[in-house]
Amino acid sequence: MNDPNPKAARRATATVGAEAVQRCILPSCGASYGIREQIYVCPRCGGPLEIDCALEAVKQARDLPTLWESRAASRDPRDRSGVWRYRELLPFDDRAPIVTLFEGNTPLYEAPRGAKYAGLSALHLKHQGCNPTSSFKDTGMTVAVTQAALLGARTVVCASTGNTAASLAAYAARAELQCAILLPQGQISSAKLAQSMDYGAIVCEIAGNFDDCMRLIGELADEPFIYIANSINPFRIEGQKTVAFEILQQCEWRVPDHVVVPGGNMGNSSALGKGFDEMLRLGLTVRLPKLSVIQAEGAAPLAHLFASLESKGATDCEDFPDQIDFVQHPRTLATAIKIGAPVSWKKALRAVLRSHGSIITVTEQEIADAKAIIGRDGIGCEPASATTVAGIRKLVGAGKIRAEESVIAVLTGHVLKDPDYVSNYHRGTLSFGLTEQGGAPKPLHITGAFRNAPEKIAASKNAILESLERRR
Ligand code: F0G
Repeated sequence: MNDPNPKAARRATATVGAEAVQRCILPSCGASYGIREQIYVCPRCGGPLEIDCALEAVKQARDLPTLWESRAASRDPRDRSGVWRYRELLPFDDRAPIVTLFEGNTPLYEAPRGAKYAGLSALHLKHQGCNPTSSFKDTGMTVAVTQAALLGARTVVCASTGNTAASLAAYAARAELQCAILLPQGQISSAKLAQSMDYGAIVCEIAGNFDDCMRLIGELADEPFIYIANSINPFRIEGQKTVAFEILQQCEWRVPDHVVVPGGNMGNSSALGKGFDEMLRLGLTVRLPKLSVIQAEGAAPLAHLFASLESKGATDCEDFPDQIDFVQHPRTLATAIKIGAPVSWKKALRAVLRSHGSIITVTEQEIADAKAIIGRDGIGCEPASATTVAGIRKLVGAGKIRAEESVIAVLTGHVLKDPDYVSNYHRGTLSFGLTEQGGAPKPLHITGAFRNAPEKIAASKNAILESLERRR
């Protein structure tokens, strides 16, 4: 190990590895389990599990930012990973053989056009699409696959709308584990499918939607040789929480006013909430950013629940409901978040309520135009990621975000994750069939406000110059 600041490293050696437990998040249960027990939900009550990192065991927490900063120039693989760099707060001991593709370390971009579009003085985009498999899933997968290898699993499995699958397939290949992925047939982008095939996964195209794939995951979880890598797995969340640490480090430990994320299965919002909460509990920050989650209108069970809590004035308490109405037939062109029954809704709702954020919906048109604006900043993202900028615009309009506040949108996937969508938007051919209950399908056509179709031009210099002149 080549640590440029060994003194600081020695001072802050206490990791949470030895003390951490898996704990049921439901206040009525709270049962805890060993950190290497292969469980995904509470065996006692069926509630969601999270890793309790026993933060009180972390010594000299105040030295951690300096230690983490000092690792930037190190060549140790653990320091080069933007996840394992924060290993003091991960539930492994220092010698754990990690499975890494040097994930994390993603840029925080300023987006002037996005800011203007959303009605803000400034907007920053945390681009998680700059990870090794081009989505935010890698930050969680490095930890989940490390745990799978430690547990001696033979096969890793997930249900996916495409990105989790691509990420798991890659990390499983690194760890030489068998990998099977369950995908809703015909409902994921060809680019994501291509990644999973290339990384050597067993690709199971299931006749059903994502929620059907998740139900099968529940059944497969009983097999001891199989390790489930969906975000119901609390180790995924541990990896993804480090994105909150990296954001704070990039902001020089000044807490942004708002952090906004897309919502699908709700793992990402849960993870960011946990990360910001741990920084506050360790005294490294003095407040939480308001965490807001944006869902596509046709796949928004948690936004509906949130709206009903808001109308009852019940959003400032943690005594949230135990029931949610899932969406039976989720619909959106943002296929990554086409999910009607999100498994981590309780954790996500808790994180949003604690931080006084919001959960809202945006339309297909709003997603498509926001996506094109993110492109115009030279950044780009996949459709699901663009819910953030569309949602911020709405929150500004509703007075929930003020123009001068500091706002970070988390872009979850790369623009090339869904090239058909991009091309159809710019060529003016983006549409999807809405089936009215009992009636004929009613197509929804998206007329992009920022269309940029290619132009057929004669092979002459003059024709090119004319085109440039016309579009000045
Ligand atoms: N953005 C992208 C690009 C995604 O792929 C996903 C989820 C989300 C946002 C939502 O994140 O589920 O943590 O709330 N994709 C999953 C998958 C479901 O299988 O790839 P979430």
